[in-house]
Amino acid sequence: MKAIGILTSGGDAPGMNAAIRAVVRTAIYYGYKVYGIEKGYRGLLDEEFVEMDLSSVGDIIQRGGTILKSSRCDEFKTAEGREKAVEILENYGIESLVVIGGDGSFTGAKLLSELGVKTIGIPGTIDNDLAYTDYTIGFDTAMNTVIDAIGKIRDTSSSHDRVNIVEVMGRNCGDLALYAGVAGGAETIVVPEREIRTDEIVSKLRTTQKRGKKHSIIVLAEGADIEGGALGLKNALTVKDKADVRITVLGHVQRGGSPSAFDRILASKLGNKAVELLIEGKSKRVVGIKDNKIIDLDIDDALSMEKEFDQDLYEMAKILSI
Ligand code: F6P
Repeated sequence: MKAIGILTSGGDAPGMNAAIRAVVRTAIYYGYKVYGIEKGYRGLLDEEFVEMDLSSVGDIIQRGGTILKSSRCDEFKTAEGREKAVEILENYGIESLVVIGGDGSFTGAKLLSELGVKTIGIPGTIDNDLAYTDYTIGFDTAMNTVIDAIGKIRDTSSSHDRVNIVEVMGRNCGDLALYAGVAGGAETIVVPEREIRTDEIVSKLRTTQKRGKKHSIIVLAEGADIEGGALGLKNALTVKDKADVRITVLGHVQRGGSPSAFDRILASKLGNKAVELLIEGKSKRVVGIKDNKIIDLDIDDALSMEKEFDQDLYEMAKILSI
């Protein structure tokens, strides 16, 4: 019987389990054997394989994290490492591999496909930093986690007339900051894609203070180009505006938690589609969602696309926070 392998790689994201469940159940439905590969490409090289059945993925659709665990692996980045991986997969009779992760994980899948392994990538990252898909699995849940935190911080911010900086994840992509900032009614949103000077933030604070609003929420993406990061911004605001500033770094809280309905449904559709593509004999493809339709495209094409920043939403956020 032909076997399909599945692994999760890179940073985990809520909804990965729902995707694993969809892959395993669809593959078994069509008569395939499925191996779960633990700890991503590291586990592939260490042969951490476990045969999955219908009940291995029972009771996981609502769970955050990934039951298959995840890691980053330097050995797999070498040609020798990948040749070893192909040999191991052959020994297990695994012809196809489903990789759930971000761009680095997809590059690994593409390189494996060049060595004859059929691969399909499913986008799983809270960053929403893949250009070819409107949403990645985990983004919606992380956004809701951030909104929940902003709401709580806003309560205490208003009680104390403070400026609260909320630092969110996003090394190169400001989607989490932008979308959560808009939904959380942030006064200022700072993202890696757009430059903003501290003087602009100060003048905005003064404008809102003049109309009687004494507290303010600044949502700052971790990768934003602001001198000294959150602490630098705090110091600048303290000196220039004499503001009472606090910083909250949300950190890995954003990576955990039960996935939202949106992420569960997206993950289920993408997992199901990934197996269907393998059955059709397709390889070196990624699945995603565009204009509310499930799509698939070549990994190279997907990775060469440049992520478009939502300038309209960014401008709208500025108007709504005057
Ligand atoms: O999953 C992506 C991401 O959340 C980035 O936004 C963040 O910088 C990074 O992962 C941190 O990952 P880790 O702590 O696992 O290295």
